Amino acid sequence: MKKSFILFLLTIISFTAKADNGHNLWLTGVAKDTKSLFQDIKVTLNGKKQLGDGYEVIIRHQPGTKTWTRRIVASSRQGAIYGAFALKRIEKTRLTENGQLTQAPVAIDITERPAYALRIINHWDNLDGSIERGYAGKSIFWNSPVNRQTWADRITEYARAEASIGINGSVLNNVNASPKMLSRTYLDSVKVIADILRPWGVKVYLSVNFGTPKALGYTETADPLDKSVIKWWNNKVKEIYKLIPDFGGFLVKANSEGQPGPFDYGRTHADGANMLADALKPYHGIVMWRSFVYGSKHKGEDRVMQAVSEFKDLDGQFHDNVLLQSKNGPLDFQPREPYAPIFDNMKKTDQMAEFQITQEYTGQSQHLVYLGTMWKEFFSFVAPNKLKGIAGVSNVGDDTNWCGHPFSQANWYAFGRLAWNPELSADEIADEWTKQTLTQDSSAVAAINKMMMTSREACVDYMMPLGLHHIFKFDHHYGPEPDGFIAEYPLEWCPVYYHKADSIGVGFDRTIATGSGATAQYREPYRSLYEDIKTCPEEYLLWFHHVAWTYKMKNGKTLWQNLCEHYNHGLSEVERYQRIWGDLKPYIDAEQWEHTNHLLDVQEANAKEWRTICLNYFRTFAHQPIEE
Ligand code: GCU
Repeated sequence: MKKSFILFLLTIISFTAKADNGHNLWLTGVAKDTKSLFQDIKVTLNGKKQLGDGYEVIIRHQPGTKTWTRRIVASSRQGAIYGAFALKRIEKTRLTENGQLTQAPVAIDITERPAYALRIINHWDNLDGSIERGYAGKSIFWNSPVNRQTWADRITEYARAEASIGINGSVLNNVNASPKMLSRTYLDSVKVIADILRPWGVKVYLSVNFGTPKALGYTETADPLDKSVIKWWNNKVKEIYKLIPDFGGFLVKANSEGQPGPFDYGRTHADGANMLADALKPYHGIVMWRSFVYGSKHKGEDRVMQAVSEFKDLDGQFHDNVLLQSKNGPLDFQPREPYAPIFDNMKKTDQMAEFQITQEYTGQSQHLVYLGTMWKEFFSFVAPNKLKGIAGVSNVGDDTNWCGHPFSQANWYAFGRLAWNPELSADEIADEWTKQTLTQDSSAVAAINKMMMTSREACVDYMMPLGLHHIFKFDHHYGPEPDGFIAEYPLEWCPVYYHKADSIGVGFDRTIATGSGATAQYREPYRSLYEDIKTCPEEYLLWFHHVAWTYKMKNGKTLWQNLCEHYNHGLSEVERYQRIWGDLKPYIDAEQWEHTNHLLDVQEANAKEWRTICLNYFRTFAHQPIEE
């Protein structure tokens, strides 16, 4: 009895010791401080090589010997840090077989420089510790008393994780910013955070509320041309730089979704952005001004057109430390959108793309949806070299595994890797992540790759096939609500505004000929391609056209039949993932396996719900039977 009890205890202990709760991200076995990172690595700092944040990684090994040579050449301390992480990544993803370093000859020599100087994570964290569109717990920055050791440790781990994938900036608070952010109490906390992030090369930025000086009672107005307002911002910026000499700058959401902005005083976005930019300029700070605006100056116009309408005439008017930051699509982080045409229209303004790592409209932290493929699709329309930087809306919270769903970590990882090098393929990034987190077994890696690489398309199929969009439940945007209409809400929040289903067909006519004319905002050949129903890619069909239920699609079947097929396919893909995952049980840590397995069940139930609710709803217009 006693013996079996001890055996039982031992089993539990060994099981617990092995269990992986996901907290280590892709960094298991990697040093926790910057000094130990360089153990066993010969580092040469050579300014003449002008590598900037880049590095050269050299690894050599002769079979039969036990000696490995590991070298990094960099031009800066930061480059050496990135080089050390790259070296570990290469060893774990390319030189390791079943947990052991390879016995084959190794001669690696890689030189890399980041594609962008600005590789920034945007936290939508509120000062009360909640996170807007956060699905993995509370804020790591604003949820516990500053200076507490566990708080600081967590932020150190965060900084290391960001540095390991090349991120060099963090905006610490929500774009719907509280004016209190700039009060001295909070700035003191920002200083403490900046001091923790600095050794890892992560700069701190803040979202600012444009109305701050007025809201805090220092000025009568927030008019960007008013002398007292300009003075207040100049002094505030000076105060910030005294505390944080390498402060990065401001992110601003103005005159959008109820936020104050320059229009409130009859001024333009350029007036507003330039006033802040001038205050930051002496300290080399920047302004990232968001183009996500609607319902203000161009209220009533097709929502997807409003950004171009508001900003086009201001092209060339922004000061040189202002960047326009725009979401990848013109609406709002839907599972699939055509690229945002603002990227075609601003020729003299520096631009940044904003991706959403947190999965607001892609199943939040409940669905396995790998976004690397979505961001690569964006880069196939907007050439990476047209951009000056990349921002990603974070999915990090204080959950043990940081991101909620074990696979949501892959989106954080992929964002960093693409911000460093947008030429990497989604496929290789998926494999890199898997090998550093879940398994090194090559057949298991291949099976996981199959799920990840098709998962975004599956999500599109069960949430918004053929370009249907914004038919999500109000407010939380998790499930389907195709009949959504609330008279008191802005029309642009209501699903019925977007799908426009009637007895003839479904979809939003955005053509120049008969619709809103949004296609006119695109460069050729896309303008003509999207304008003509016959050439419009089917994945965007209902985004740009109102299409008859009986319309014959490329496969010879009707629109209605194709809609049914897509919903069915999305669901069958999730069922396929369940089977794949079931077979992977022997290869994956038990805790990670159980967690994902449970979430795949949730995802399957949700995919069914999307299919049932949407097809039953649209059937009332199409008057056709649902095809299984
Ligand atoms: C979406 C999201 C909001 C967010 C906004 C933004 O609309 O639902 O929570 O504030 O985007 O990007 O500003």
